[in-house]
Formats: sequence, structure tokens, C-alpha cells
Amino acid sequence: MILKNVFKNNEKWIQNKLSTNANFFKEMGEGQNPELLYIGCSDSRVTAEDLMGLGPGEVFVHRNIANMVIGTDLNAMSVVNYAVQHLKVKHIVVCGHYSCGGVKAAMQSADLGILNPWLRNIRDVYRIHNDELNNIQDENSKYDRLVELNVQEQCINLIKTADVQKAFRDRGLKVHGWVFDIHTGKLIDLKIDFEGILDNIMEIYHLD
Ligand code: CO
Repeated sequence: MILKNVFKNNEKWIQNKLSTNANFFKEMGEGQNPELLYIGCSDSRVTAEDLMGLGPGEVFVHRNIANMVIGTDLNAMSVVNYAVQHLKVKHIVVCGHYSCGGVKAAMQSADLGILNPWLRNIRDVYRIHNDELNNIQDENSKYDRLVELNVQEQCINLIKTADVQKAFRDRGLKVHGWVFDIHTGKLIDLKIDFEGILDNIMEIYHLD
């Protein structure tokens, strides 16, 4: 049973941290100053800090099903607001992953109850990129591409917020789109043209 091990593991972890830095927890108690906000999927295989090799204090994390940034999601919007306005992170990453169950579910015709309105946001991404996706014959390639396009659209959703627009203008905040390849462990930078997108959409989404 996994829970039996958790507290034992925790004791080992404490010893491990103290052996490399005796003041580790004292320093942690003094506050946080992360440079990065990571928005990723809740999937148990995509482990945020662990896959980036980062430790406590280095990254502010928000995870939900299929790494969505939805403007009416009070949870995600509060995380973005706090990270950008108060922690003053320098980078925001939206990290998707291949074999994402949320993205797969959105490609299928099924009534999934309470998940329907959440997954509808991914179906909207499909609709926006319908032409490109319908030209892909191989189902797996189509699925991978939708994962990538979903990351791109969530980056755009970040750019639609006043917090991100202000921080971009005032201090050069950057938004990045990544995909974690579950089959190889590799983190892929989609190299989304943040400034190009900003130029394109600001006519409509400009807030201040
Ligand atoms: Co996922």
C-alpha cells in the first residue's frame, strides 16, 4: 500500500535535504522566489519539478486535466495573478504531454458527465484547427498534433489576460509552450512565436 511508505519516504527526504544543506528548511521558511510558473497536466506520469530537475522553491505549479488555461476558471486565474503580480515570475510555461487522456477524451464522442464542459474547451481547440487536423490521416499523429495545438491555444489564453499583457509590457514576461514526450522522457519546446501571436491578437484582446 502506497500510503504506508509515504511517511517513511518523507523522513528519508528530510535527512537527504539536511545532509546537503543544514539550513534547508530554515531557508524554505523564509519565503519563495520562483522565476517560473508551470501549468501542466494532472497526469501522474508528468511530474513537473522532477522532470525539469528543479527543487522546492524553484517553480510555482498549477496542474489540471489537460493543462488548460480557461478565463473563467477562478483557480487557474488566481494562480496566474499571484504568480505574475506578486511573485513576479519571469516565465510562464504551459506544458502538455503526448498520450494525454484529457485530449484523447475530447477526440471521442462520449458523454462524460461533469467532464463535458471542461473537455469542451479542447473540442474548441479542435474546431479552431479543424482543417489542419482533418488533413492528418494517421490517428496517433492527429492526437499528438492536437496535444501541441492545445498547448498553443492555452498560451494564447494566457496572453488574453490583463496580468500577462501588463507584465509583458512592463518587464518582458515570457510565455512558453512545451510538450513532454511520455515515450522518451524528452521535454520539447514548441517554440511558439509569443510576440507574433501577441501582435496578431492584440487588436482584439488588448485590455489596457
Ligand atoms: Co494529460
